[in-house]
Amino acid sequence: MKQFKKMYVEITNVCNLSCSFCPPTKRKSKTMSVAEFTEIAEKIRPFGSYLYLHIKGEPLMHKDLQEILAVCERLEFQVCITTNGTLLKQQKEVLLKSKAVHRLHISLHSFEANAISLTLEEYLEEIVDIIKQADFLIILRLWNGGGMEALNNRILTMLKANFDFLREDKVNEKTYLQMGDQFEWADMERESQKETGFCYALRDQIGILVDGTVVPCCLDNNGDIALGNIFEQSLDDIYMGNRAQNLYNGFSNRKFAEKLCRTCGFINRF
Ligand SMILES: C[S@@+](CC[C@H](N)C(=O)[O-])C[C@H]1O[C@@H](n2cnc3c(N)ncnc32)[C@H](O)[C@@H]1O
Ligand code: SF4
Ligand code: SF4
Repeated sequence: MKQFKKMYVEITNVCNLSCSFCPPTKRKSKTMSVAEFTEIAEKIRPFGSYLYLHIKGEPLMHKDLQEILAVCERLEFQVCITTNGTLLKQQKEVLLKSKAVHRLHISLHSFEANAISLTLEEYLEEIVDIIKQADFLIILRLWNGGGMEALNNRILTMLKANFDFLREDKVNEKTYLQMGDQFEWADMERESQKETGFCYALRDQIGILVDGTVVPCCLDNNGDIALGNIFEQSLDDIYMGNRAQNLYNGFSNRKFAEKLCRTCGFINRF
């Protein structure tokens, strides 16, 4: 049986922020019901253990997150949650009580791109609190290429006031700071750029959008590489289908079977 290192299930494509670096999806707004999520989770469980609850959207906005995590716990998934962190006050206890949560990525850089109704201090207060209580891995992302230096410095100063860093990038035994650059989202409207390239999509990862559309990666914002629908087909049939296999085999020869991939700024980051 094919095994993926990461499987993405987009439990909602709705977000409470509109970060300048994250193009809004052209798809209809939708949130998965617990029943839909359960059907998908049971179907894909044989294909991997690490489950990510986003592609676009903010997973902490899901009102039934607790039930979703209970399904993950029953199925013995290792859940990875990537969040902008603004709803931690409301969802922190749900995360802390779940045995399914394996790691939490908090996108600190989203603070710079939004009119968030929290002050930076209020925002970081909840983050400091969850770091102190959690027994799962936490990755604090600062993927702005050092861009907003003053903001990054304020964030680092507050973190350093609360934790004796073990290393420059190690906040405590289970919390890491991850500096990175912004990337350019793949976009069908943009002129194709790259001629050749390789990507681990369909080798290491696969994604399922909120309506069940299966896509190769977490970068297919609009479902342009629709490989099938998990509500209608098995994941095996979708993976072995022509479109998926053409993409996979194309990458083996450093060729792009899909136009979208030619514009993808994430291609070298897996
Ligand atoms: C699309 S978001 C979905 C999860 C959640 N809403 C969040 O922001 O963490 C997934 C990750 O992509 C990051 N991201 C989105 N667009 C980006 C860009 N152009 N450059 C760097 N990171 C980006 C987000 O900050 C986040 O870490
Ligand atoms: S990066 Fe995350 S928080 Fe920001 S707009 Fe995109 S989905 Fe929303
Ligand atoms: S190149 Fe980009 S768009 Fe294409 S499969 Fe890889 S991550 Fe997805």
